[in-house]
Amino acid sequence: MQCFFINKHTREEASEFAARIFEAAFWNGSGNVLVGTATGQTPVLTYKNMQRIFNEEYDGYEEEFEECIRFMQLDNYVSDDATAENLPEYSYQRELEESIWKIPHNAHFIPREYIDPEEECKHYEKVVEEQRNWADLYIQLLGIGDKDGHIGFNMPGTPLDAGVHIATLNEETIEANAKKFFNGDTSKVPKKAITMGIGNILQADVIVLEAFGSEKAEIIHKSFFEDMTEEVPASALRTYDGLLFVILDDESSSAIREKEGDDVFTNLDKYDVNQIILDNN
Ligand code: F6R
Repeated sequence: MQCFFINKHTREEASEFAARIFEAAFWNGSGNVLVGTATGQTPVLTYKNMQRIFNEEYDGYEEEFEECIRFMQLDNYVSDDATAENLPEYSYQRELEESIWKIPHNAHFIPREYIDPEEECKHYEKVVEEQRNWADLYIQLLGIGDKDGHIGFNMPGTPLDAGVHIATLNEETIEANAKKFFNGDTSKVPKKAITMGIGNILQADVIVLEAFGSEKAEIIHKSFFEDMTEEVPASALRTYDGLLFVILDDESSSAIREKEGDDVFTNLDKYDVNQIILDNN
């Protein structure tokens, strides 16, 4: 594995940098690019930056993108009342439609929250496999659960080689998501989700993990510098054999800087990133 820890002062700078990694992937000339998306608060600015970069810097990019970019979402809630026409109030699908799926593309995929979950898991496993085979370059964006280190909705205890499965959200995740998306009302947070497994995620050629804010500092340290264990799902990334960028701001990097020192971090600009992506293809 080639792993770069990047520390930018603010989440704004960090998100701009992350968007440049996707830009490099889109323009590396290696053919079909599959972008694995995550939802939640962390990637919002990164998606905005991607939109801005393409609008400002790549006049006419739509035609280039039409055939060779696809998006595949990591996970989705399971919602008993939802239908295809009537999505729930807080919907990952809507969030992606309003942000990242605006970038012209040929296709996007998300686990359907309104289909029998067992059936949908089987279906989505096939989708993941087909899209992985279609892609010449598969780049996956990840966030991380504040306290427990979940990636996608792989909760602590999930086997590190799991495929697409139904996850039961733990208390910490329900509380964190209630605060972020449901005005603190835990009763409104769905209790189950369909998620790509860690085994699916580790198939990516490039992984970009973003974590911002002081509440993520300890879990980021634990994931990369303490024991690898099913209890900290993100620690599975240490077995990853692709190209990994861990992008932090001053708050989320604080525990690593205190305990491991500043040498862990690499200073890269967008030209370095282009070169690294090219070298890895
Ligand atoms: C969402 C997802 C989750 C989030 C994680 C962090 O698609 O995959 O793993 O990345 O819960 O959420 P935020 O970014 O809201 O802190």
